[in-house]
Amino acid sequence: MTKSADIGLIGLAVMGENLVLNMESKGFTVAVYNRTVEKVDKFIHGRGAGKNFIGAHSIEELVASLERPRKVMLLVKAGQAVDDFIEQIIPHLEPGDIIIDGGNSYFVDTIRRAKYVESKGFLYIGTGVSGGEIGALHGPSMMPGGSVEAWPAVKNIFQSIAAKVDDGTPCCDWVGSDGAGHFVKMVHNGIEYGDMQIIGEAYQVMRDLLGMSADEMHEVFKKWNTEELDSYLIEITADIMAYKDEDGKPMVDKILDTAGQKGTGKWTGTAALDLGIPLTLIGESVFARFLSAQKDMRVEASKVISGPKPTFTGDKVQLLDDLKMALYGAKIISYAQGYNLFMAAAKEYDWKLNYGDIALMWRGGCIIRSAFLGDIKKAFDTNPELPHLLLDGFFKQKVEGAQDGWRRVCAAALINGIPAPALTSALCYLDGFRSEWLPANLLQAQRDYFGAHTYERIDKPRGQFFHTNWTGEGGDTVSTAYNS
Ligand code: 6PG
Repeated sequence: MTKSADIGLIGLAVMGENLVLNMESKGFTVAVYNRTVEKVDKFIHGRGAGKNFIGAHSIEELVASLERPRKVMLLVKAGQAVDDFIEQIIPHLEPGDIIIDGGNSYFVDTIRRAKYVESKGFLYIGTGVSGGEIGALHGPSMMPGGSVEAWPAVKNIFQSIAAKVDDGTPCCDWVGSDGAGHFVKMVHNGIEYGDMQIIGEAYQVMRDLLGMSADEMHEVFKKWNTEELDSYLIEITADIMAYKDEDGKPMVDKILDTAGQKGTGKWTGTAALDLGIPLTLIGESVFARFLSAQKDMRVEASKVISGPKPTFTGDKVQLLDDLKMALYGAKIISYAQGYNLFMAAAKEYDWKLNYGDIALMWRGGCIIRSAFLGDIKKAFDTNPELPHLLLDGFFKQKVEGAQDGWRRVCAAALINGIPAPALTSALCYLDGFRSEWLPANLLQAQRDYFGAHTYERIDKPRGQFFHTNWTGEGGDTVSTAYNS
């Protein structure tokens, strides 16, 4: 072997192949290895032919072909495979070498792996890579975190291959220690679930309430993509609406209505539950996918449970405009909730997250890329200590402006029996968030009534707890006060 490689990659599946082609096109020499080694030769003689790749037939060979500090990147299925490869790579490394996991790993696993790899004297990076195969090839959004000493060694490669925003800033920067990069990628995916769900709900309102054809919806999504909702997911939805099957009928109508999921949305919801953050829109989006998957039961239920037949008599143009506002308002809520989760996670895991930079990393390359993220970046540039996105002047005003139409859409959906769990729950969140008073006093009274769980009083300082003997039968003993 004459030339040494700048970086090595294990895992020549769709993402791996495209990512190494991207690296090579930016002038880096890449060593590649795959568990099924035939894939290595196929790649070297196929898409990689005549390019600066080194094909390795073993991990030992791969590691030996790398410049120091060695950078070995994994793009394999999240889970056990990552742990297995780490074990196989470690014996061939020297102090200061770097293992990089570019898959959709669970951030808790990344925290554990970073500690483990560091304990062996090596460095570890867990990086989110978003943008699908096209993004991997032409410029993904990358969200690296882990051993900060490893960042200078990979920065040039990562920022060279990442997508760039208009002024040339790469959609990739250091996120934070141990699992921070994968946490940010996980929340990205959760937001992706949310954006997709609200678009789906708008589609159902257009289809079932307004009786619109796929071609008509194509026009609406195309127009929306030039306005506030300008984003990759709206753009591809417009394309999907226009796409015809071989018989000339819309392809979208031929697809079975059961959604799959690989787990990142569920993890985001779990993290929110663990950290006590009301992440309702993403939560509803994950549950909506679960409900969609209960197809057989829904088919049965549709035969026996009746409901209103959607009928629309109002102004269609107005409702379409309202629908756009509903999507915009709900999207603001979703990101506000996602950032609320970031702030809780930063505290819990001792990460110093730069919220504006995260928005910038998502501004290009990734699935949730949108013009909207520029406004989030601005909000945190204006006030890096902003405690909640809804308290930013711009977003406060936008959400107020979206309300009327958004309420009309939710009302129309509820009255006509069209499920819109994400759009409606986001509106409920907004109403809860802007409420000085919520009925939790009654809840506290109930808890105290049946279980002596105690309550705080409005006329006493916070932190003093009281118990009432509601029935006259209870004693003075109170339950331990703790908040989960
Ligand atoms: C991305 C995507 C990607 C993942 C999708 C699909 O950022 O490029 O998020 O990582 O393939 O999120 O996820 P589900 O199968 O869970 O819908």
